[in-house]
Amino acid sequence: MAEVGQPKVKELPLEELYTSEKHGCDQTGDGTASKPFKTVMTAMLAYEKEPFPQIYVDGKTDEKKFKLIPHAQFINQVKLHREEQQKSQASKVKEQEDAERKEKDLEEAKQVTIIEDKSLPKALKIKVLEGEKHRDERVKVSGWVHRLHRQENTLLRVVLRDGTGYLQAILSDKLCQTYNALMLSPESTVTLYGTISKVSKGKTAPGGHELVCDYWELVGLAPPGGIENVLNQNTDVETKLDNRHLVIRGEKTSKILRIRSYLMQAFRDHFFERGYYEITPPCLVHTQCECECCSALFKVDFFGEQAYLTQSSQLYLETCLPSLGDVFCIAESYRAEQHQTRRHLAEYTHVEAECPFISFDDLLDRLEDLITDVVDKVLKSPAGQLVKDLNPNLVPPKRPFKRMDYSEAIKYLRENEIKKEDDTYYEFGEDIPEMAERRMADKINEPILLCRFPAEMKTFYMQKCRKDKRLTESVDVLMPNVGEIVGGSMRMTDSAELMEAYEVEGVDPSKYYWYTDQRKFGTCPHGGYGLGLERLLMWLCDQHHIRDVCLYPRFLERCSP
Ligand code: 4AD
Repeated sequence: MAEVGQPKVKELPLEELYTSEKHGCDQTGDGTASKPFKTVMTAMLAYEKEPFPQIYVDGKTDEKKFKLIPHAQFINQVKLHREEQQKSQASKVKEQEDAERKEKDLEEAKQVTIIEDKSLPKALKIKVLEGEKHRDERVKVSGWVHRLHRQENTLLRVVLRDGTGYLQAILSDKLCQTYNALMLSPESTVTLYGTISKVSKGKTAPGGHELVCDYWELVGLAPPGGIENVLNQNTDVETKLDNRHLVIRGEKTSKILRIRSYLMQAFRDHFFERGYYEITPPCLVHTQCECECCSALFKVDFFGEQAYLTQSSQLYLETCLPSLGDVFCIAESYRAEQHQTRRHLAEYTHVEAECPFISFDDLLDRLEDLITDVVDKVLKSPAGQLVKDLNPNLVPPKRPFKRMDYSEAIKYLRENEIKKEDDTYYEFGEDIPEMAERRMADKINEPILLCRFPAEMKTFYMQKCRKDKRLTESVDVLMPNVGEIVGGSMRMTDSAELMEAYEVEGVDPSKYYWYTDQRKFGTCPHGGYGLGLERLLMWLCDQHHIRDVCLYPRFLERCSP
């Protein structure tokens, strides 16, 4: 019988088999006149055995759709069909033999046992990263089989992964002949015992050395083929997202996650070195911060009351100034806007800071200091090499950054023919959307501090410019390839002005009594900013899509795994 996946004739035996180069299909045809196969060979393979019934091919005219296959063509096709059948018979025999041999090998392997030689020095438990320090000592290392290469029954080369690095290991003789050795698959977990030695000249291995094993233990077996069966070069985006827990084991994604960890450390080091305190603000809130409309907030039922997931911790940071001075937080922020772009998430890591008694220029200086210092710290850390691997052309930002007012940006867009979708120019007072902003950032190709946006475009709490009350002391930091990575501003200091701003925004001030109180109980000039960690990572690691720099990205219609 035809195998699963192969074409089948409608019923056996058919008295006539129809094929049509013009109208037939080898995948969906069944050999009838209404559903002919495309090729005679497929029809024959589907019918399987000789003698074949009458085979029909395309007729010459539309009236005579089919004609009997010419004799010479039939003979030729029968010959080809016999050859084809012989080949498939031979490969079936080989498959059978291979399976039997494997079964026999596995049975024999069950008899092979290995035990640790207790006369050897006790193995010291180490991580892969510590390999160089412990060369020529007997060690044991646990981890996941990242790659596996078998050389007949004599050698098994394993690349072990333990999160700190990769280690090549060699298992020879009996060590690679046990049942577990024959069953071993990528992603299985093992503990390897042996001695790490430098690889000989001309050979390469991670760290320049390899573990020559004298004993090993299987901890957990993974399915045959490891994750290759779930994820490979042809896997579509949705499947990759469904299997993010396996994707993160890959070399690129694990590099990004390691860089991310060092980047967060760099932010913390930067702030602590400059005397900031870290705070942990609430995530469940009653008030909005960046909201233009409530559809941008995730609603939560808080014991029967309406609450929201925070969009920004800024308002809480501001309340900490009289208590702690300069403060920062690294916390998740939530945005419910239905954006489906390569730089928007529904949940992202927000690095926010707030500083009392500073001017707008101080705020801009602090932003320059933050970005240059943090990038410098990451590049000098062990993640520096990982960044270079992913982004060899990275140009670390240098101070001073280009400072540009919003009004100058509108002029720049006009001069550089960056227009709206309807082919008209952007006018003062209009929002510069993502695409235009990015085209400008790409063209300028260096960090930009884009300043002084019109008040109506920005949120209610922003301080107006003293010289021109239409504008705010606000700033966005734009990076090439990504666009906006920071939004910040000076905050309103006057409580009466703030009350007016609530009204304009249509916000109920009673819920914000604690925020307004900051202006009553000793106001001060102050400002701060929020930086999207993932956006900075996109730039740092040269990643096109924000999803690729998250652990488990959350965006429209994606809240799992
Ligand atoms: O410009 P935003 O909305 O500013 C605020 O939330 C201020 N309250 C922050 C503050 O002053 N403390 O957001 C700040 C940054 C943006 O520049 C961007 O990098 C990031 O947060 N961001 C997002 N990142 C990923 N996905 C989204 N949907 C984001 N929305 C904002």
